[in-house]
Amino acid sequence: MYLGIDLGTSSVKVLMMATDGTIIDEVTQEYPVYYPHTNWAEQQPEDWWKGTMDALVLLAERNPETKKQIKALSFSGQMHGMVALDKSGDVLTPAIIWCDQRTGEECEALTAHFTPKGLSDLVGNKALTGFTAPKILWLKKNHPDIFNRIDKILLPKDYINYKLSGEFATDYSDASGMLLLDVANKCYSAPILAYIGIREDQLPKLYESYDVTGSVKREILDILGIPGDVLITSGAGDQAAGAIGTGTVSEGVISVTLGTSGVVFAAHDQYKVDAENRLHAFCHANGKYHSMGVMLSAANSLKWWSDQIAMGDIEPLLNEVDERITEVQFLPYLMGERTPYADPDARGTFIGMDMNSHRKDLTKALLEGVAFGLKDSLDILSDIGVPTEEIRVIGGGAKSIKWRQILADVFGHRIVGINTNQGGALGAAILAAVGDGAYGSVEEATQRIIKTEDAVEPDIEKHRHYQKKHAHFKALYGHLKQYFKEVQA
Ligand code: XUL
Repeated sequence: MYLGIDLGTSSVKVLMMATDGTIIDEVTQEYPVYYPHTNWAEQQPEDWWKGTMDALVLLAERNPETKKQIKALSFSGQMHGMVALDKSGDVLTPAIIWCDQRTGEECEALTAHFTPKGLSDLVGNKALTGFTAPKILWLKKNHPDIFNRIDKILLPKDYINYKLSGEFATDYSDASGMLLLDVANKCYSAPILAYIGIREDQLPKLYESYDVTGSVKREILDILGIPGDVLITSGAGDQAAGAIGTGTVSEGVISVTLGTSGVVFAAHDQYKVDAENRLHAFCHANGKYHSMGVMLSAANSLKWWSDQIAMGDIEPLLNEVDERITEVQFLPYLMGERTPYADPDARGTFIGMDMNSHRKDLTKALLEGVAFGLKDSLDILSDIGVPTEEIRVIGGGAKSIKWRQILADVFGHRIVGINTNQGGALGAAILAAVGDGAYGSVEEATQRIIKTEDAVEPDIEKHRHYQKKHAHFKALYGHLKQYFKEVQA
């Protein structure tokens, strides 16, 4: 038996998996996000810890016999958050999490100091407000007293590892999102650390996601009633762990997540970086690399449309969408956009309606607009020479057959689903199983556990139409970019 702990933003999920991949049970515990100021987002690491322990205790209670067979656990974690600990291992300040946007000035300072090319050469990525390094700089400037007391800086899931085992460990995939890791060479970047004013011994030790970093403390195992030892492997950032949970581990396989946000994720055998850093260039949890495009409002755009504007349930709104072709366009930038524009000022836009436009045409334009946004990331992948052999589509939005068909038609490529929707928690359990030696490699485990299903073929006629419409979609952002900037100023 293996446990996958998925430390998300709204909840933590603990999943129990048998060695063959069968899901035995899962428990979820929620916790709050605090928004103390506009653009700020914080969480209390103690809430994550309490949620994790409550979930572990409940899972153990519900599985009095199988719990005794648990051999290892691992993590999938919300990325980029900053957890600062003092010498005694106590939390110094609330964690500034991935969606916090307060560090605009620090990102500008980093970019001005190193230049965009310099940053790309050192850490493979551009400075984005959500990443960890600018958050440390923000703390240094605004709370030097706290900054000076920092003994360790951890990522969210690494804090749970520390509480369970007493070890300070992270993995290359999650560390890639700190802007402190030389991604290509898999070590901390000395020039960036020097600029920020932190030492390497203040950061967690780096491991591959399936490497054993320690084991669960005996006093915790006693609370859970587990007699044997339980190993811990370092785990992965939620996107890399999710990709393990979809079997996106070999060159040519691309996963597209149509969740609240949208993610296009491609696995590579070698380090690859887009010269303009439009995609994130990160280490993968299988010991290799990946590129990733992140769209901030994907299925969330449809939720916004149904909750706030169309005022109806999603199902009937999707049912009324028909084959009618229109030139109505929707730009899905309701929360700004990360890939390809890294533009926090961009906004949602409908354009092109006439007196014959119906609600269903706008719903369809919205489904198409999200698909175009995802296609933007696929196009960058193709620009940097990544082959597209198979596209695996997952996430809540992919349950709609209409949306899946639109995706296939916009991509001009066959898409497939997979036999599980457990994502990061399953990926984490697989990383535990690999670390324990149940499988020889991450690839071997995913080949045995993850199966594809529900293929959708593209309609080539419609793809031709969508190629034109996608070009207009891209041009629209170009026309509106300056306007978005001016109105947000
Ligand atoms: C990845 C990212 C999100 C967060 C929260 O870059 O920002 O996946 O990890 O889920």
